Amino acid sequence: MILKVARLGFPTLRAAAQPVPREIIKSHDFQKLIDDMVETMHEYSGVGVAAPQVHLPIQLAVLEVENHPRYPDMPPVPLTVLINPVVTIRDDEKVEDWEGCLSIPDLRGRVPRFKKLRVDALDRDANEIQIEATDFHARVIQHETDHLTGHLYIDRMPDLRSLGYLAELQRFVLNQ
Ligand code: NI
Repeated sequence: MILKVARLGFPTLRAAAQPVPREIIKSHDFQKLIDDMVETMHEYSGVGVAAPQVHLPIQLAVLEVENHPRYPDMPPVPLTVLINPVVTIRDDEKVEDWEGCLSIPDLRGRVPRFKKLRVDALDRDANEIQIEATDFHARVIQHETDHLTGHLYIDRMPDLRSLGYLAELQRFVLNQ
């Protein structure tokens, strides 16, 4: 089932999400929620969806980058389910690149993100997983886990002047 995506201004996007109790992860309802979030991510061509974006203040996010129409040159990231993720930055170096968000439709902005990190989380089978990620993969993880603390990419922009509508950016800034 495709879920409605909350837009900037909806309170869950600005709330600290609660940890998911490990014992409910394998329940039918929770597994269905994960499936619905994956379906929603695919429907809207997102590279990730966090639970606060579907109106639920819990620490759950899904992400995937595979033959993505908007990011054709990016290395693929397999479908990943992150529950109660904890991010550890592995390198202080930051890289700036364009970002967008399904909760802030049509806009893009330049966002510096850490280049390298580790994330500890539970997967959809409630197993502990540890992922080392760099570059775009690390960017997507930072974007999605930021959603779980009530942060959006615009909060991370040092200069809001790069914020723009994708259609205009494509005409004047991108692809130049
Ligand atoms: Ni987002």
